[in-house]
Amino acid sequence: MKRLSAGAAARLKGIFGERMSVEEEETLLASYDATKKTGMPAAVVWPESTEETAALVKLANEEGFAVVARGAASGLTGGSVPADGSVVADFARMDKILEIDRRNLTALVEPGVVVGELQRQVEKVGLFYPPDPASNEFSTVGGNIAECAGGLRGLKYGVTRDYVLQLEVVTGGGEIIHTGSNTIKSVTGYDLTRLLVGSEGTLAIITKARLKLIPLPEGIATAVAYFRTPHEAGEAVSKMIEERLLPRALEFVDGVTMGIVAKSKGYRFPQGAEALLIIEVDGGKEQVAADIERAVAVAERQGAIAVERAKDKAARDRIWEMRKQLSPSLYAASPDRVNEDICVPRDRIPETLDAVAEIGKRYNLVVCNYAHAGDGNIHVNFLVDTTDSGIMERAEKAVEEVFKLTVSMGGTLSGEHGIGLSKKRFFSLEVAPVEMALMKAMKRVFDPNGVLNPGKIFPDE
Ligand code: LAC
Ligand code: ZN
Repeated sequence: MKRLSAGAAARLKGIFGERMSVEEEETLLASYDATKKTGMPAAVVWPESTEETAALVKLANEEGFAVVARGAASGLTGGSVPADGSVVADFARMDKILEIDRRNLTALVEPGVVVGELQRQVEKVGLFYPPDPASNEFSTVGGNIAECAGGLRGLKYGVTRDYVLQLEVVTGGGEIIHTGSNTIKSVTGYDLTRLLVGSEGTLAIITKARLKLIPLPEGIATAVAYFRTPHEAGEAVSKMIEERLLPRALEFVDGVTMGIVAKSKGYRFPQGAEALLIIEVDGGKEQVAADIERAVAVAERQGAIAVERAKDKAARDRIWEMRKQLSPSLYAASPDRVNEDICVPRDRIPETLDAVAEIGKRYNLVVCNYAHAGDGNIHVNFLVDTTDSGIMERAEKAVEEVFKLTVSMGGTLSGEHGIGLSKKRFFSLEVAPVEMALMKAMKRVFDPNGVLNPGKIFPDE
């Protein structure tokens, strides 16, 4: 990709006027995401319409510069880290909820809507948008769709892709296309919507989405069960699922992670607890009261040493606040930590945790894990003390072993954070040459000149 030329910059100014900047204070602000990776864009633009976005991408094709879409930049694999010399399209100004359709249970939104705001607005009218990434208070719908964000309610409700009915996007060729259908069923042609969800801004830029909503459950019950070992907690997860319980959230946190969040945010946990499970059920009021007791009984049979039940909404909110502080607390404790997002068949969580612990021991690394356990999605973290020379190399080798282990367990490199820049060198551990060639061919169809978000997903050649 060429860098933005002076001529191209002038044409960009012609489209965006004051909503285009080449000032360093703006380009720097667009140069990073929640990884510590950076790339310096040549310019930032703030589109206000689909047509402007299409004009931007057409210009990129003519002038040969790259375009990188940006939401809240809370991604954890570098998906929105711009290529050097590219133009960042920041969707902060396309942040409207255009419609909440109560007769069809859908919402039509622009990409810059913050997910938590969407959740609140639909809940006001008794509806529910289940996808709930830990970043919900700042991440945007566009970014969630681009990465297929997962989060805390995957077990019962699935992930972002399960709630995207229709997309309006601008392809890499600069065409505005509409995918999907405003219906619950549709088998008319290929499922382009599903292809675009999770494509990390490499095939098209999302300008509008119609999302599926469901009725807001009447009751919720939440409990935290504490265990002596991570292994016991992992076994409790498998037992709950085997007993046909379907909590809307089943979150695991290990003792090291608990210690870090306790220290940084002042939480207290029972003595001797080296793992916890947050269990949350929803449904009819009587049903949830029964279900939470069944889940607690399973936890106790599996060795839980203490159980706390949330008595009201405030107590429940405190539990989720603690959970959502895990990633920021680990970041604060070890900014260079390696933070992964593997996903394994959920009955293999206990053995995966044991094997990860063994890898950590072998490389002399502090490991801590937390997991969307009901989904088999484990955030494996290796803490990194940068005063320890050689630790980065050890962490990188350990991570490679974790990915090999994951694949050998029948799992996947990323449950919800995407591949981006961080994991592309491991991509071929999971994706065979023939499938990778097919994916690259699709990229060429959507983006013939390779202007959209270059350098992501596929390993460097
Ligand atoms: C979480 C993010 C890191 O689960 O996915 O907190
Ligand atoms: Zn997560």
